[in-house]
Amino acid sequence: MKIEAAVLRGASDPYVIEPLELAPAGHGQVLVRIVGAGFCHTDLLPRTPGFMAQPPLVTGHEGSGIVEAVGPGVTTIAPGAHVVLTFDSCGTCHNCLGAHPAYCEHFLRLNLTGSGLDGTGPVTDRHGHAVAARWFGQSSFATHVLATARNVVEVDKDLPLEVLGPLGCSVQTGAGSVLLALRARAGSSIVVFGAGGVGLSAIMAARVAGATTIVAVDLHENRLSLARELGATATVRGGDDDIVEQLRELTRGGSQYALDTTGVPEVITTAIDALRPTGTVALVGAPSQPLTLPAAALMQGKNVKGVLEGDAVPQLFIPHLLELWRQGRLPFDRLVRTYPLSAINDAERDAVSGTTIKPVLLPGS
Ligand SMILES: NC(=O)c1ccc[n+]([C@@H]2O[C@H](COP(=O)([O-])OP(=O)(O)OC[C@H]3O[C@@H](n4cnc5c(N)ncnc54)[C@H](O)[C@@H]3O)[C@@H](O)[C@H]2O)c1
Ligand SMILES: [Zn+2]
Ligand SMILES: [Zn+2]
Repeated sequence: MKIEAAVLRGASDPYVIEPLELAPAGHGQVLVRIVGAGFCHTDLLPRTPGFMAQPPLVTGHEGSGIVEAVGPGVTTIAPGAHVVLTFDSCGTCHNCLGAHPAYCEHFLRLNLTGSGLDGTGPVTDRHGHAVAARWFGQSSFATHVLATARNVVEVDKDLPLEVLGPLGCSVQTGAGSVLLALRARAGSSIVVFGAGGVGLSAIMAARVAGATTIVAVDLHENRLSLARELGATATVRGGDDDIVEQLRELTRGGSQYALDTTGVPEVITTAIDALRPTGTVALVGAPSQPLTLPAAALMQGKNVKGVLEGDAVPQLFIPHLLELWRQGRLPFDRLVRTYPLSAINDAERDAVSGTTIKPVLLPGS
């Protein structure tokens, strides 16, 4: 069928909206008409020279939409269902069977190459040339996508579908890191480094968990101010020289938990320094450079844990997050600003500059 999508033709090119041809839903696949698609910082990675996924490529991995058709073998979802799209996983490897699909043995190939396990894709351009369109099993900066039954999560029809896409990645990552990976306890302390889409979701989740000291660290005052509204009990400017001392004082000797969403090695070192003995820092930020730790950094029972996608089982966790939203306890929609899909280059610019926390592209407008 004919679709339209934002195609990245070169690593430093702007996106161009192009007509493309999408194959019918194959075995296990689900055709989804996209209603909204969040812009996540991970969508910038194919612009990095040498990265796994290479242009020409359709990115976008926080889609939400309506199922239009299902391929052979799909029994868990039917046309008409409202869905949030999330990361893909194989369903049969050790970690998928153990309810940790974000650590699927095939995670990188399924999600970050843009071309899936067999290296082929369902999309061609007007000249018949292939365009990679299996980014996170969706490539949702498009009017329609082929996902799989494993990476769609059905949601209630009364929910505001156009803004639900970020649940599939950034919100799930921030909230899951706190609630599932760190298992933050009531009365505990947590420092969240970076108050973007992931960090602010973590802050809302920390309040849900009952953490009583929630410190947000960022370089931008407007983000710190929003962090306070969403649950941070204190905020600290990231560039301050005495940041470790400030954090130790605010957390009465060090935080039990920390989350790094910046990927900046010096910030991660600060996060470890500011932990209390036995504390744990979760790392979710895409690392900008190799991480070097002083030999003594992890003494006193300190822990460092990499976390992907909040270690969530999306079909279980996203409905939980939506219940929290209904109760007003996870107002992730406050992070969103919508743009027509045709304004994707403005959305990307605003995400990079930080003026918009969570752009959501609307292919239908
Ligand atoms: N592990 C996963 O599963 C997963 C999932 C989604 C996103 N990510 C990654 O998480 C990261 C965060 O995503 P996001 O959408 O929230 O990005 P974002 O850019 O909106 O947020 C990052 C924040 O970090 C702040 N920051 C940068 N340097 C800092 C410093 N030195 N001190 C304090 N704050 C600093 C920025 O001001 C910004 O507000 C990205 O690297 C993204 O690729 C990982
Ligand atoms: Zn797997
Ligand atoms: Zn993402």
